[in-house]
Amino acid sequence: MANRYVYEAASVEETVSFAGSLAALAVPGAVLALDGDLGAGKTRFAQAFAAALGVTDVVNSPTYTIIKEYEGDKLPFYHMDVYRLSLEEAEELGLDEYFHGSGVTLVEWASIIAPILPEERLQVNIKTIGPDARRLVCEPIGAVYEIWCEKLGLPAYEGEGDDE
Ligand SMILES: Nc1ncnc2c1ncn2[C@@H]1O[C@H](COP(=O)(O)OP(=O)(O)OP(=O)(O)O)[C@@H](O)[C@H]1O
Ligand SMILES: [Mg+2]
Repeated sequence: MANRYVYEAASVEETVSFAGSLAALAVPGAVLALDGDLGAGKTRFAQAFAAALGVTDVVNSPTYTIIKEYEGDKLPFYHMDVYRLSLEEAEELGLDEYFHGSGVTLVEWASIIAPILPEERLQVNIKTIGPDARRLVCEPIGAVYEIWCEKLGLPAYEGEGDDE
């Protein structure tokens, strides 16, 4: 298993700040694969990430539209929510084409489409640990994302299991 790192957000503002720090590192073709329970904060994170890329449009949860593209100052932003999709449907929709596009892709409920995610990506698992507290466990897959975590100075996560 790849190394894991952790960011403990005590408030929405801290999640927003962390998403902004990640956005500052984003390059074309970067992929963030988010998982976490309903209401964990995946969409809130995506909104903050988009804002930090200079997206001025309102970023909503794309649960029904599956994929939405935005123009940022810095990069295009592709926001996916695959909660309602099967892996087969995701393949038919050609979602994988976005991963190699000129923008940065953020996928909510990414584990559903794990087989078609690009090999290199930053996995972020958000866990609710209190009313406003969230644990964001980051698993960089690939050297590029390993460097992101190092640049952010994130401490290693020593917890157990996939996402705990
Ligand atoms: N530290 C925090 N980080 C992120 N969101 C937080 C935090 N504390 C409270 N919240 C609240 O939790 C909610 C998260 O909702 P959000 O829609 O982002 O969840 P989600 O993971 O996308 O859920 P879904 O799976 O239903 O799409 C928001 O109302 C947000 O304000
Ligand atoms: Mg959501």
